[in-house]
Amino acid sequence: MMEDADVYIEDGIIKKVGINLCVPGGARVIEAKGKLVIPGGIDTHTHMQLPFMGTFAIDDFYTGTRAALAGGTTMIMDFALPQKEESLIEAYHKWRAWADPKVCCDYALHVGVTWWNNKVPQEMAQLTREHGVNSFKMFLAYKDLWQLNDEELLEAFKACKEIGALAQVHAENGDIIKENSKKLLALGITGPEGHEMSRPEEVEAEATMRACVLANQVGCPLYVVHVMSKSAADVVRAKRKQGCVVFGEPIAASLGTDGTHYWHKCWRHAAAFVMGPPLRPDPTTPNYLMDLLANGDLQTTGTDNCTFSASQKAIGKDDFTKIPNGVNGVEDRMSVLWEKGVVSGKMDACRFVAVTSTNAAKIFNIYPRKGRIAVGSDADIVIWNPHATRVISAQTHHQAVDFNIFEGMEVHGTADFVISGGKVVVEDGELKCVAGAGKFVATLPFSPAVYSRIENRDRVYAPRKVIRAPYDGVVTAMNVTL
Ligand code: URP
Ligand code: ZN
Ligand code: ZN
Ligand code: ZN
Repeated sequence: MMEDADVYIEDGIIKKVGINLCVPGGARVIEAKGKLVIPGGIDTHTHMQLPFMGTFAIDDFYTGTRAALAGGTTMIMDFALPQKEESLIEAYHKWRAWADPKVCCDYALHVGVTWWNNKVPQEMAQLTREHGVNSFKMFLAYKDLWQLNDEELLEAFKACKEIGALAQVHAENGDIIKENSKKLLALGITGPEGHEMSRPEEVEAEATMRACVLANQVGCPLYVVHVMSKSAADVVRAKRKQGCVVFGEPIAASLGTDGTHYWHKCWRHAAAFVMGPPLRPDPTTPNYLMDLLANGDLQTTGTDNCTFSASQKAIGKDDFTKIPNGVNGVEDRMSVLWEKGVVSGKMDACRFVAVTSTNAAKIFNIYPRKGRIAVGSDADIVIWNPHATRVISAQTHHQAVDFNIFEGMEVHGTADFVISGGKVVVEDGELKCVAGAGKFVATLPFSPAVYSRIENRDRVYAPRKVIRAPYDGVVTAMNVTL
């Protein structure tokens, strides 16, 4: 809903919304006439300072959240990813210790289920009960690192359902990727184009379908992170149409650019776009994903922000399988969405708010504290100027990384003022944020937006036996000793 109103905030909370509010003398007034006062963006998918592929993502919880605020995002959801055999709870505490002193905006954590034994579900339950984690990410890719097999996936989905958590999947078939990579390298294809060729669309679509089927078979709700291709998005759409509880998250990269860059003649340029699943060479992909997002087939937007500078990407200069996977997006997601979604005429401003914050808040059970301008909600607010333009560039962005995959894109829509926890942190484009000012936001299980349908389904679809008279005829004696 959109209305003309003033918003009064105090102590980090929205206290009044209405026309001609009475406010105490001395209250600071920010004029927002002609602009939109919207909930701060929620980026559902980031990896600040992730230790990955022999290095650490260069944007840490300070530079990453600072850049988020500059672009109008006031909350990120990052991933604690345990090493093989590492306790999930220890990984969670490690990420908290990294993030708490550095974050400039609020954040939550998803936790990765990167290996499996019978202690893992107990830790998942404890994380949900005591540590504010209501979502777990399972990997169908990264063979020999984080990949689970189907049996383990089923166990993980069952565990999520038991504790009221949302199962997230990285949907690509890691076995096929390994096989194809070997073949391509043997053919001498060592550059970034090999990355996409080793994992074309159907490798993502197969894993997306498999995850949907496995989750549905055990009645577990599913959230597909980084939907990168038309065919994977089609699977999510089809499964939703069949009544499965599944959500899909395209990212700024898949909505704003495409995989033709992998064929760029400059190695550094091409390598900058390497991420998994890859961007797609089909240039109609971003528009297609945006249409699904606009029409409700996809629900949220993340970025998978996981940045590596030139020298880090160069770890894989002779072998595309060694190029650290990840792209930028945390700063530009809101502008890219506005430009490609709203300016293009695909969605209105209300749908923009839904897909940049409200839907995420509902799915991850932090609504209406986040994702809404209403009395009692956190004062995480953006004054969005739909008329202003800027040109995205690594020269001017606030991220630590030395490349921007949206370089040169002119976007309408800028965050003129950003208020995080009641404090003005962006003022006419100037950043004033403080490391450690953000808070960890606990996410509670059994999110109504996810689980209310599950509970009814379990009841309605519970298996029922047929009551019949017992068979009373002759039974052949079995003879199995041959
Ligand atoms: O390339 C990517 N996506 N890097 C981050 C790890 C992940 O799979 O999300
Ligand atoms: Zn992933
Ligand atoms: Zn170049
Ligand atoms: Zn990711």
